[in-house]
Amino acid sequence: EPIPVHRRTIALVGLMGVGKSTVGRRLARRLNLPFADGDIEIEEAAAMTVSDIFAELGESEFRAGEARVMRRLLEGPRLILATGGGAMLNAETRGLLKARAVTVWMRADLETVAQRVQRRDTRPLLRGRDPLEALTALAEARYPIYSEADVMVDVAGGAHAQAVDAIVAAL
Ligand code: S3P
Repeated sequence: EPIPVHRRTIALVGLMGVGKSTVGRRLARRLNLPFADGDIEIEEAAAMTVSDIFAELGESEFRAGEARVMRRLLEGPRLILATGGGAMLNAETRGLLKARAVTVWMRADLETVAQRVQRRDTRPLLRGRDPLEALTALAEARYPIYSEADVMVDVAGGAHAQAVDAIVAAL
């Protein structure tokens, strides 16, 4: 039996640096729902940072852990969920998102995203690479997948508060 929309988790998807975590936290406060950040949940479960998981265990171990964390979160009570940028690549996660969440693709122009991610060096997929080039390659591979989301919200250049408003309006 499908879960009605008003009882579904709201999952933010999209590339790293679009503001999923910050906007998710604010959206949760606005809607009075609990918030979870996929990356933080993975770090707590592994007792390691995302960067260390990539460096010491490799990306495929990270992806396996990410899928387990996403399953636990998506099978639990309704919440606002900021997903890691690669979470939707996993077929099981994608299926769970479809069945149990309303998915919101937060999209911004890649120049804006590149500027944001340069401020912090916590993204293993960008390490040692030109951010705009790396993000362009990720966008090419992933936009077809993100486009399966229920709604797309353009957050280009805007403040986080505007992104929250845009998501609330789109829901
Ligand atoms: C990744 C995005 C990161 C994190 C990991 C891999 C990706 O999350 O899960 O570095 O594959 O796009 P954010 O989107 O929260 O930065």
